[in-house]
Amino acid sequence: MIQVVNLALLGFGSVGRALVELLIQKRAALKAEHGLEWRITALASRRLGCWVTTGGGFDPERLRQGQFVPAERLPTTDVGAWLDASRAGVLIETTTLNPHTGQPAIDHLRMALERHMHAITANKGPVVHAYPDLSALAKAQDRRFLFESSVMDGVPIFGLFRETLPMAELRTFYGILNSTTTVILEAIEKGADWEDGIREAQALGVAEADPSADIDGWDAAVKVTALANVLMGAGLHLDQVSREGIRGLDPAEVRTAHEMGSPYRLVSRIERAEDGSLRASVRPERVTGALAQVQGTSSLIHFETDVLGGLTLIEHHPRPEMTAYGLLADLVRAVTRD
Ligand SMILES: NC(=O)c1ccc[n+]([C@@H]2O[C@H](COP(=O)([O-])OP(=O)(O)OC[C@H]3O[C@@H](n4cnc5c(N)ncnc54)[C@H](OP(=O)(O)O)[C@@H]3O)[C@@H](O)[C@H]2O)c1
Repeated sequence: MIQVVNLALLGFGSVGRALVELLIQKRAALKAEHGLEWRITALASRRLGCWVTTGGGFDPERLRQGQFVPAERLPTTDVGAWLDASRAGVLIETTTLNPHTGQPAIDHLRMALERHMHAITANKGPVVHAYPDLSALAKAQDRRFLFESSVMDGVPIFGLFRETLPMAELRTFYGILNSTTTVILEAIEKGADWEDGIREAQALGVAEADPSADIDGWDAAVKVTALANVLMGAGLHLDQVSREGIRGLDPAEVRTAHEMGSPYRLVSRIERAEDGSLRASVRPERVTGALAQVQGTSSLIHFETDVLGGLTLIEHHPRPEMTAYGLLADLVRAVTRD
């Protein structure tokens, strides 16, 4: 039996566009392996406005060229009204991260769940600031709230624990979760100054025009909070992460550390204190072993569990296509129930 799923895309930047490409690429396999057909029936972004379709949804080939046909632009920017008109069974949310509140993405995901849609996001903000609420709402609505690509792109971290490690207790973890700082530190190791290092990261497309969220450790702190809250039920608030960025490092010291084989990297950690409480930190450390091998935009996370001991995942050179894969994997999970 074929299931046709209507999708509403909120956000149409690098990740949203990569998802459309991947959906087109995997169309035949989704049908053959999962009996699944998809239509994009609604699309919205801040500047593009709120678009809806009738019949079979957007023409995907024209959509990938940025042409919204056959479709109608609603005379409103109200996301609730757009969802009401969307005919969608799934909202895929890929809007910009607001690290401090997670809004307005939290409200948008909530609106989708209230309308009995599955809610899937690549955005870390809602995971950090509203994971318990959105999960409870999804459960009450018999829908799914999924966010695999919000940390380390398409690498299956949340699904790994949820689906393949039943009863495993995650005790601690550490990793290099922010690639902009690695790219900047590597440039400094090769002789660049701070400004050149930042420009190099911007040229690679990994750093924002204002890279302070990366340099000051906010991005890594958001990731460590999301992981600790979902995988360990830590109930951490972002402010509880002890956070020190790379801004205070002396370039000469960065180069010396590199020459000695133990370079500085921005390391995120969850550790357990003697009383069993969890301590979260993000700070520059001199690293060795696997952490010292992480290069460029790659990331690494190491988990310590009670049953498997250490388990390390490395993501090599991420691209928006990999984030799109995390969304696609969540879509398949959401609509093909066991
Ligand atoms: N890039 C990656 O590989 C990657 C990896 C992991 C996670 N993520 C996360 O995925 C999300 C999307 O990333 P991206 O690289 O695709 O970003 P992007 O290229 O900047 O695109 C963001 C999109 O969100 C839209 N948007 C922002 N605020 C909005 C609002 N309030 N209402 C409606 N639309 C809004 C933007 O619309 P306008 O252009 O119209 O303003 C744009 O279409 C972010 O949360 C990011 O942290 C990205």
